[in-house]
Amino acid sequence: MAGRITPELRDQLLARTDIVEVVSQRLGLRKAGALFKACCPFHSEKTPSFVVTPARQTYHCFGCGAHGNAIDFLIEFDRLSFPEAVEELAQRAGMPLPEATGAPRGPDPQPLYDLLEQAAGLYRQALREHPGRDAGLAYLKRRGLSAEVVRRFGLGLAPPGWCFLLDALGKSAEQRERLVTAGLLSERDGRRYDRFRNRLIFPIRDRRGRVVGFGGRVLDDGEPKYLNSPETPVFVKGRELYGLYQSQQAQHYPPRLLLVEGYMDVIALAQFGIDYAVAALGTAATPEHIKRLLRAAPELVFCFDGDKAGREAAWKALKTALPLATGRQPIRFVFLPEGEDPDTLVRKEGRDAFEARLADARLLSAFLFDQVESRHDTGTPEGRAGLADEVQGLLQTMAAGSYREQLAVELARRGGGTAGARLASSYRHPSQHRRASVPTLNRIEKAIALLLDRPARAVQVAERPADWLDHEEKGVNFLAKVVEIATAYPGITTATLVERWRGSKGEGALRRLADPSGIAAIPEEGRERELIGILDRLSSEVVAKRREADNIRRWRERRPPSDETSR
Ligand code: UTP
Ligand code: MN
Repeated sequence: MAGRITPELRDQLLARTDIVEVVSQRLGLRKAGALFKACCPFHSEKTPSFVVTPARQTYHCFGCGAHGNAIDFLIEFDRLSFPEAVEELAQRAGMPLPEATGAPRGPDPQPLYDLLEQAAGLYRQALREHPGRDAGLAYLKRRGLSAEVVRRFGLGLAPPGWCFLLDALGKSAEQRERLVTAGLLSERDGRRYDRFRNRLIFPIRDRRGRVVGFGGRVLDDGEPKYLNSPETPVFVKGRELYGLYQSQQAQHYPPRLLLVEGYMDVIALAQFGIDYAVAALGTAATPEHIKRLLRAAPELVFCFDGDKAGREAAWKALKTALPLATGRQPIRFVFLPEGEDPDTLVRKEGRDAFEARLADARLLSAFLFDQVESRHDTGTPEGRAGLADEVQGLLQTMAAGSYREQLAVELARRGGGTAGARLASSYRHPSQHRRASVPTLNRIEKAIALLLDRPARAVQVAERPADWLDHEEKGVNFLAKVVEIATAYPGITTATLVERWRGSKGEGALRRLADPSGIAAIPEEGRERELIGILDRLSSEVVAKRREADNIRRWRERRPPSDETSR
């Protein structure tokens, strides 16, 4: 799919898109002069520091540093992939996307989605109408699930027997093949049969609400307790979260998300009014899961059993979360009494008592030190050294910034020695796009930032001497490329200009330079002069250097050749 998204197409798409419209369909924007403002959807705040600039066709948050164009906004806010965001904008703009040209592209997944949706419908229907539905209904009753929550999560029943779906949907060889690809049929000895039989069915929806797979629970004590769809072209377990779609249907931006272990936990909590719980699909939380959760809510709470296995799982989750933690969004851990899970506990004690546990959940920092201190004897220098080394190792996986610094300070406070000093060699994790403070720019970067701020300034640049193109300072080629594109496409916006670099070298640098806070200190009316000043200075340096080289050459030519060879 990405193969057909050419730079020209992206230009056209952004030219036909108004970022103000895209954003205002999702957030309440308030006009403020030439800008629009809102409370930032990407971090929690009370006064608006999220700005959309129509002239640049970009958004920028002065609080958390989130920024980008309309495509980035859809990726971040609607949680779409890049091709999905492009598709979405193309649809809005009524712009057909060309079919794949040469570039390798998997088969169209739409028939798979359709098939999975049909299967979900048949399972739901079976729970209402199938002659064998009594066992399913009895099970729901035994588990105390309300009709409302069964409907909200679209629960269904896979009736007993080997070919419920096979008969209903496997009418042609092509369809049967597709049922296998979708993970709905199993194969043994060349024979195909329904994967899910005599089970309560939990459809798994992706962030856009499409059914991508299923979980199925036995109705008795059979084994395995849960059977899940295998990974398929549309179902990647490390990415999907059970209940995320439903939680976002309930509240677009819930106050927090609670990561629990099981399908039944998500559903029981929802039934009791806690509609922000999600579950990873029978695996430990992946970085992808955590990224997605941190984008979807201002706070993340991990919920685990209070036993040893629960603490070990929590420690694993902590290690996965650390590289993504910034401290701006609290990450907490809650441990339930032994023998309970959220399903049993919320039924026993009700919503308020359960939510009180969440309010009391341990902050990541507290849990981290609890765990590390339980492993080392802080009464001895040896123990403290071991503790310091362990914490340092963890901190090294984090992005540089004030959160990591504060954890280092906390380590020092707890007797872990010269933590601050050792961290000074500031490691920056690749996932760290957002900056902690206003960047200081060198002159080339400043020139690029001034062009990105208003690409039309390239016209003035083009009228000046072009000697600077020969300057050897780092970044001049990059600057030249920006000038070239900005002059070749008069009227190009910041958004479109930056889009040109997506997926190629220099993208990160360019995005950083498109951040308006880098040049905020230069008053608007002085910016053009500043830009021209930098380029003219570069040009005169080139001219001076050329003149000097000329002089040396001439001087050499005057010298007798013997001098040259005697050395
Ligand atoms: P649990 O064993 O904790 O089950 O598994 P549960 O969620 O409490 O389910 P009930 O209350 O007994 O019905 C937690 C999660 O681990 C995955 C499922 O996603 C389940 O929801 N799991 C568990 C499996 O995938 N397969 C299994 O056999 C068991
Ligand atoms: Mn359970």
